[in-house]
Amino acid sequence: MNILGIETSCDETGVAVVNDRREVLAHLVFSQIKDHQQFGGVVPEIAARAHLDHLDPLIRDTLKEAGLTFSDLDGVAATCGPGLIGGVMVGMMAGKAIAYAAGKPFLAVNHLEAHALTPRLTHDIPFPYIVLLVSGGHTQILVAEKVGHYHLWASTRDDAVGECFDKTAKMMGLPYPGGPNLEKLATRCSDLAKAKTRFPFSIPMQHNKEMVFSFSGLKTAVKNEIDKLQNSDDLPDLAASFQSVIAQTLALRAGQAMEKFKNLYPHHNHPHLIVCGGVAANVSIRTALEMEARHHQFTLAAPPLEYCTDNGAMIAWAGVELLKAGRTASLATKARPRWPLEELKETIYE
Ligand code: KG4
Ligand code: ZN
Repeated sequence: MNILGIETSCDETGVAVVNDRREVLAHLVFSQIKDHQQFGGVVPEIAARAHLDHLDPLIRDTLKEAGLTFSDLDGVAATCGPGLIGGVMVGMMAGKAIAYAAGKPFLAVNHLEAHALTPRLTHDIPFPYIVLLVSGGHTQILVAEKVGHYHLWASTRDDAVGECFDKTAKMMGLPYPGGPNLEKLATRCSDLAKAKTRFPFSIPMQHNKEMVFSFSGLKTAVKNEIDKLQNSDDLPDLAASFQSVIAQTLALRAGQAMEKFKNLYPHHNHPHLIVCGGVAANVSIRTALEMEARHHQFTLAAPPLEYCTDNGAMIAWAGVELLKAGRTASLATKARPRWPLEELKETIYE
């Protein structure tokens, strides 16, 4: 089963072909970073136009690399939400047009579900499992029961963690995209313990027993430190301390989720914690989660970095899973700027 996947919901144009043997036959991503850099963030209108310019050649090159034509496909998957609606429409309409012209099923992929299913492409992971989704738009802990069935255990009251990285990086004068640049800056900190003493940030809502995230207070605390800063030589220490408290926060809530999971599924003998979304590319965060997972006798699985940030392979794989589950979509499917994972149960694909 060969599925073409198209991703256009943010600032990466991604196209891939993946089969049901978990092989990525071709996978190309065009990053629009340069188009948005001068504005310090993603400009939706520019993103939509750039997808329009780059998508067709990317589809052609992907198929060429996979050595396939449209007739070799078993389905066409495209992100139909959530995301920046102009971009989503570009990819969705291209996907529908190919599906219609080639007479193949269309698979309407929820971008969040694609992130949550990606570890099943890269690792052989059985349901149910815990998903920590950390991206520019989302910070969620979910339990994936099966395709289309997710329970939301935790989300953020304000900023998403990637957004917090991006805004903090901007305040530090780092170029867009903030997250990876802040991580790079933090590597220049030579003594983390000292950095944390100099810039002591506390875990947001540490003593709140609820599984909930909040990052706006931390962002303000960092801003206060930046305002007081005399010397830009201190920025690596500030970045390292900030990154460290984020890693601790995610590990704390993931730990609570693993305990809850063990109580709910006491007979699950090989439980997994999955971390996905763009922020999962951060090495300090992965390391903190790895330790926390080991402490709770869970296995941490994180997709390789190229599949953590937005890409077409995750959409194609979600398409494989949807097609196997019989969840094909009609060509009348609408693009959805907002599409919470919990609503998937009720999503009617016909
Ligand atoms: O999943 P993603 O590619 O796009 C969506 O938001 O759907 O995630 C992008 C987010 C951005 O906020 C970016 O700054 C963050 O992931 N990010 C990182 C790193 N790489 C990407 N944050 C921290 N450390 C990184 N290495
Ligand atoms: Zn994403």
